[in-house]
Amino acid sequence: MRQLSRRVLAASESQTLSIAARAKQLAREGHDVISLAVGEPDFPTPACVRRAAIAAIEDGKTRYTEASGILELRRAVAEKFRTEHQLLHASEETVLISCGAKHSIMNALHAICNPGDRVIIVAPYWVSYPAMVVLAGAEPVILETTPASGFKLQPEQLRAALDSRTACVILNSPCNPTGVMYTRHELEALAAVLADHDCYIISDEIYEKLTYTRQHVSIGSFEQVAHRTITVNGCSKAYAMTGWRIGFMTGPAHLIAQAAKVQSQDTSNPNSIAQYAALAALEHAAADVEHMRSCFEQRRQLLLDLLGVVPTVRALPPDGAFYVWLDIGALLTEQRTSADIATELLERYYVATVPGEAFGMAGYLRLSFATSEEHLKRAVERIVTYLASLNS
Ligand SMILES: Cc1ncc(COP(=O)(O)O)c(C=O)c1O
Repeated sequence: MRQLSRRVLAASESQTLSIAARAKQLAREGHDVISLAVGEPDFPTPACVRRAAIAAIEDGKTRYTEASGILELRRAVAEKFRTEHQLLHASEETVLISCGAKHSIMNALHAICNPGDRVIIVAPYWVSYPAMVVLAGAEPVILETTPASGFKLQPEQLRAALDSRTACVILNSPCNPTGVMYTRHELEALAAVLADHDCYIISDEIYEKLTYTRQHVSIGSFEQVAHRTITVNGCSKAYAMTGWRIGFMTGPAHLIAQAAKVQSQDTSNPNSIAQYAALAALEHAAADVEHMRSCFEQRRQLLLDLLGVVPTVRALPPDGAFYVWLDIGALLTEQRTSADIATELLERYYVATVPGEAFGMAGYLRLSFATSEEHLKRAVERIVTYLASLNS
């Protein structure tokens, strides 16, 4: 039989989605599964957003829109990028609305990558980056961070990795899975390195509104790299709108135009109703976002407190997002990897977590606190029971 696309065959499937599927299957079989594997807020979409969607349906806003997104939303996103992120070049012409931030990143990679190009990804990384780079026909180059560097890319490490084949560097702050955020000073140092190299930067800032320790800074606001940075954001995490599929980006006009062309030939416009809902989110849901953020902050503290008294694991306090990156190195043996531990926790103790392997760094578990305090308490109780069983 004729071989299928080598590019597609080479791309991996999302491990987080497969764990979520297994957790759902166990729950369907009647097990009391607690999922700390989820990558989405557990809050309902804010009421003002839901109402705007219903109004859009009733008003007949149910047809194709401009492929790049409705003008009102592009204007609102450009305004957000200019005022909240100091991305001074953002305008209705340089904003592209897509079907989720994932789609934004994929469109950007399609516009950037040629065969033989390399794209730098920082590990631990969001599960989808390597596969997306492969699908865009380029080669992922993984730069591993360490606990000693706070899981942050170091300027000299970046400099050593950049070469003539590097087409793009993907940065993610706040980071999924570690929750780590780069400071202004750290981003300035990375921007100084990137200023000497002719490549693009994709800055994935999808968790920008969910922060606990410091203010978010966009690398695209720095003059040296502003003309080569694509800043990605969206509605999924901040507004509890994962299912609505609205993401957006801004970047250099010539690149956004090509990314828009990809989208127009691929999916056409994002869902018209969701676009009107996203507009309401940007304009009216700030108080809802703050409510969700402060709930996440409380849960973050609860989870850190619960894990803090467990001697064999070490939790990294996250600056942002809704994940705790748990060092379980002390539990590993030649026969027991972090993937094995995640499997045992799910299959025997019905707690779903995601092993570090999914993010390119074994020896860790990612625990999501996008679930109730009650669930967090019961999940940690089960984890403690499991750990005790390892010693007995
Ligand atoms: C770091 C990161 N970027 C992008 C996305 C994709 O978000 P969206 O739902 O907007 O496609 C996710 C979702 O999990 C994420 O964690």
